[in-house]
Amino acid sequence: SEDELKKRVQAVKEKMGKRLFIPGHHYQKDEVIQFADTTGDSLQLAQQSALNQEAEFIVFCGVHFMAETADMLTTKDQTVILPDLRAGCSMADMATIHQTERSWEKLQALFGDTILPLTYVNSTAAIKAFCGKYGGATVTSSNARKMLEWAFTQKERMLFLPDQHLGRNTAYDLGVALEEMAVWNPDTEQLEYEGDVEKIKVILWKGHCSVHEKFTVENIAALRESDPAMKIIVHPECSHEVVQKADYNGSTHYIIQMIEKAASGTKWAIGTEMNLVNRLRKNHPDQEIISLNPNMCPCLTMNRIDLPHLAYALEQLEQNPTYHKITVNEETTHYAVKALQRMLERV
Ligand code: 13P
Ligand code: SF4
Repeated sequence: SEDELKKRVQAVKEKMGKRLFIPGHHYQKDEVIQFADTTGDSLQLAQQSALNQEAEFIVFCGVHFMAETADMLTTKDQTVILPDLRAGCSMADMATIHQTERSWEKLQALFGDTILPLTYVNSTAAIKAFCGKYGGATVTSSNARKMLEWAFTQKERMLFLPDQHLGRNTAYDLGVALEEMAVWNPDTEQLEYEGDVEKIKVILWKGHCSVHEKFTVENIAALRESDPAMKIIVHPECSHEVVQKADYNGSTHYIIQMIEKAASGTKWAIGTEMNLVNRLRKNHPDQEIISLNPNMCPCLTMNRIDLPHLAYALEQLEQNPTYHKITVNEETTHYAVKALQRMLERV
């Protein structure tokens, strides 16, 4: 039963004390978040992992790429565990290192040494290492703007992996015209672009988030008609059209802050993951909060981490410390940390 599972988790937490640290991403289920020692968006969780030198075990409640980042930013003596190894990210899977290396060669042939690679942290450690090796950096949704500004001080153009939407939305905010952006299709190994390639400033990898792509301009049009007083706030992983038509857009952390400081009685339609929308609604009963897509949009892989998996993983820690342990090899870590550091020292 749920009560029993809760007691099992509590028992391990009490026994382990400071030897155990549980970070939880905002998109995690409530049944998991209630046991998190800290909650945050991907930037905050990366920063907190880097700071925590004392926990022997970090049981990461989030997805695989976040656990990899935690492993790379902590010391060799610290063990990072992902309670369910199937908690991946479909966006991160859209850029494999093999595809990226092949694409890079083709892009170098087209543009020479004028491109800086940047990757959204929602990518594998190998992609982060690739960026680190070629002078580039990681970005998160809360610092993408700052990082793109920096990237343009380094090179004429950039390759932005793997989320075309965050790349396009951020570059557009900085004044890059849509005509100066091209989508790179890693399957056909072609630029989806008509015109003079010399004009291209931002090359967008053709990846997306399957959760945030579900918020549409039709959803926005329907709401504008049914309830004009409703404010629409979306994550920049949503498409450019959706972000343009919304009232506000920003990272998970930004969305939470906006709702927290909003006046009582205000109405919000939110375009982000379902667990977070439901939690905001519960925590702010004085406001009217709905999902921008009435069908709700869960991240299926985030949701793989549930109370049974958390309880079981915690109980393995002492007897079986390699159970669901996430380890990034030394060479990958070396280069990926360069990319992460270039971001962490700027935010
Ligand atoms: P942030 O935590 O940076 O807002 O990213 C959202 C997300 O999709 C995490 O997987
Ligand atoms: Fe990946 Fe999107 Fe899920 Fe985040 S919300 S883990 S980007 S699929």
